[in-house]
Amino acid sequence: MDAGRLTQRLAESGQSHLLRFWPELSAKEQAELARDLEGMELAEINSFFSRAMETSGRGQRQSVDARMEPVPAEAMGSTARDHKSLATWEEEGLRHISQSSVAVLLLAGGQGTRLGVSYPKGMYNVGLPSHKSLFQLQAERILKMEHLAGQKHGTMCCIPWYIMTSGRTMDATKEFFSQHKFFGLSEENVVFFQQGMLPAMDYSGKIILEAKGKISMSPDGNGGLYRALGTQKILEDMEKRGIKFIHVYCVDNILVKVADPAFIGFCVLKEGDCGAKVVERTHPAEPVGVVCKVDGHYQVVEYSEITQATAERRGTDGRLVFSAGNIANHFFTLAFLKDIVNIHEPQLQHHIAQKKIPFVDEQGQLIGPDKPNGIKMEKFVFDIFQFAKTFLVFEVVREDEFSPLKNADSQGGKDNPFTTRHALMSLHQRWVLNAGGKFVVKSGIQLLDATRSLNGATNQPIECEISPLVSYGGEGLDAMVQGQEFCPPLVIDEKGVHGPPKNRV
Ligand code: UD1
Repeated sequence: MDAGRLTQRLAESGQSHLLRFWPELSAKEQAELARDLEGMELAEINSFFSRAMETSGRGQRQSVDARMEPVPAEAMGSTARDHKSLATWEEEGLRHISQSSVAVLLLAGGQGTRLGVSYPKGMYNVGLPSHKSLFQLQAERILKMEHLAGQKHGTMCCIPWYIMTSGRTMDATKEFFSQHKFFGLSEENVVFFQQGMLPAMDYSGKIILEAKGKISMSPDGNGGLYRALGTQKILEDMEKRGIKFIHVYCVDNILVKVADPAFIGFCVLKEGDCGAKVVERTHPAEPVGVVCKVDGHYQVVEYSEITQATAERRGTDGRLVFSAGNIANHFFTLAFLKDIVNIHEPQLQHHIAQKKIPFVDEQGQLIGPDKPNGIKMEKFVFDIFQFAKTFLVFEVVREDEFSPLKNADSQGGKDNPFTTRHALMSLHQRWVLNAGGKFVVKSGIQLLDATRSLNGATNQPIECEISPLVSYGGEGLDAMVQGQEFCPPLVIDEKGVHGPPKNRV
């Protein structure tokens, strides 16, 4: 370590205060701080800061509103409204999956702050009868989809799973996968890679110390994906494996249809290079981003950026004008991702989040501020929609595909372990009913399907869980349930149909 060179670099970039406590640090702490600083492109970080601050000026809210347009009908497909095409889309998607040209990519670098856990969110067990974690549910859906596509086309296919973690989640995530033997997937088809981290800064652009010898760092947002795809050589890996299409998704949606053939097939048949899955926003205040056009370019506008008047606008059909709710499921062609990484990524600006960031003051005291005192800089995964040649939007049914885990049960409300668990059990209950099974209290007395609305969380769904290894989307259950009556709890997994003996009628 060359302390002189470090001092000079910091002075040149206006960050000399980072060595303020240097003489008080132990040799180990000095070495760690020096290593962290040496790994940072300080000039670049300063330029990110000034560009991001410049564009985050006041009055944005008003101007975004005025420039927004809804997604045009020709860019949209819908599982609910385009019944006739659904089978064709699925068929097309399955064909590509069977040729091993589809990969899935999980964004799992977030810190799960709202959920309040110290480990990666994908490890969370929402309390299903099987106690499966979110990671396990996703892994099993991948296994099942490989099986379904391979069986249909007589191939041995594989869906590689790319998992983006961050400095905060990498070790725990990898450890969890090896403890669980990769949930039955081949280890070589699960590829972990790490996104970048950026320092928190105060409003004048000074990097914040969270301890005398430690910089306050956080992941650079889920749009950090694009830089990481290049630096971690992930695109090269995809190319080597013959991947053409990629389904990117967030870790927290318990209903996520990983490698959904209908979504993939729709985007491929419509020759899209980039696509987003959405659900219809039914309430103007719903906290999901809105997929729309701004100044003629596709974008997601976060709900907090839209005025109430715009959020509440309704068309002649009574639906919200800005109804395309982003559920953070995206389709990309490999060719599109290559252009993003090689050409467009450096032009993307960071978004600024004002935060309460714990810091050490000039006297070396750790302060936990009670109001925002600085910023974190993040890129977003959807920032690249604007570069698509053919952008598509695929609307799916909320109850079938979207129930995110954001908050702890203790916060009440929605999007918590209770609502996600119930959303999954309610879906599986409907699969059983659709396949000709019945739920009864006791023989002959049928239970009502009372659980379509989950967010109010007043109705208890029937306790019912079907392993993804048995059914990916409700298919293949007839032989197991048709004409049968079940007294819940009902669990169907690869070993069979379970429940205490008295519970099966
Ligand atoms: C996200 C979407 C929002 C959408 C909502 C639906 C973004 C930026 N916003 O919001 O439009 O309506 O989901 O549920 O996508 N992550 C990383 N690295 C990071 C930060 C996050 O990999 O640096 C991952 C998280 O692990 C998670 C995903 O990105 O899987 C979404 O992050 P989160 O912060 O939860 O986004 P939301 O605010 O919920």
